[in-house]
Amino acid sequence: MSRSLTTALTVEGNRPSRCALPPGLEPARLPAHVAVIMDGNGRWAGQRKLPRVMGHREGVEALKRTLRLCSDWGIGSLTAYAFSTENWNRPGEEVSFLMTLFERVLAKELKALEQEQVRIRFLGDLEQLPEGLQQLIQDATDRTASNTGIRFNVCTNYGGRRELVRAARLLAQEVASGERDPDSIDEQAFASKLLTAGEPDPDLLIRTSGEQRISNFLLWQLAYAELHITDVLWPDFDETALVSALMDFQNRQRRFGGVASVSS
Ligand code: IPE
Ligand code: IPE
Ligand code: MG
Repeated sequence: MSRSLTTALTVEGNRPSRCALPPGLEPARLPAHVAVIMDGNGRWAGQRKLPRVMGHREGVEALKRTLRLCSDWGIGSLTAYAFSTENWNRPGEEVSFLMTLFERVLAKELKALEQEQVRIRFLGDLEQLPEGLQQLIQDATDRTASNTGIRFNVCTNYGGRRELVRAARLLAQEVASGERDPDSIDEQAFASKLLTAGEPDPDLLIRTSGEQRISNFLLWQLAYAELHITDVLWPDFDETALVSALMDFQNRQRRFGGVASVSS
């Protein structure tokens, strides 16, 4: 992170130490995995009479802030929706701006990600991305794979339905080749074919800019996530907004289909 994580952290050995949580948040009840639909960049720019792409540029700063805070507070995984399979429907200029932005940011921030022990992965149909970006993604994934800090998943050319279809296809191929008995296909087997395999499901989904929809994000994984929708536009998302989301989460009672634990 260019206003690097290192400015906020002291480094002990190779591992950043954790910063104190803001008062009111209980460390033991933080979500292990936070997912975020970073929405509202265009509207943020529109409010300032700027081109939409300026909102995307500012959105990168919000993502860097959010990653730094989640890392500082010991949240295990952050999964961010950067570009959906439907976002190709935007004007060509906006799409190419976004692809170039992803390349620039990744190239610029890789060193800091490595130093801060972030494990970055990109989830989605990566073969459709520009060559240069694919190479940077491969490099960043490889160079941070053995890091021990926060797991940072960037959903790029990601679609939840496409991910489900892919999982079904992989399982079908195993059945067709005789490797797998159809009866062995259970929820665990299915989840193991998703792009998020090995990752716990998100506990908290944050969506900015007030839209009350999922927009094809993590359709399987969000089954029991708590939803926090805020009117804050993504480029304005800051520590106060993240603390509000975490407070909201800590005030929820998660039942997973059971009943509230009350003394009888
Ligand atoms: C989210 O902001 C960023 C991407 C989808 C890439 P938008 O660009 O969707 O912003 P709004 O929704 O038009 O304000
Ligand atoms: C969702 O935002 C996708 C990302 C944040 C990358 P959109 O702006 O594309 O979603 P819709 O069109 O409002 O559903
Ligand atoms: Mg939007």
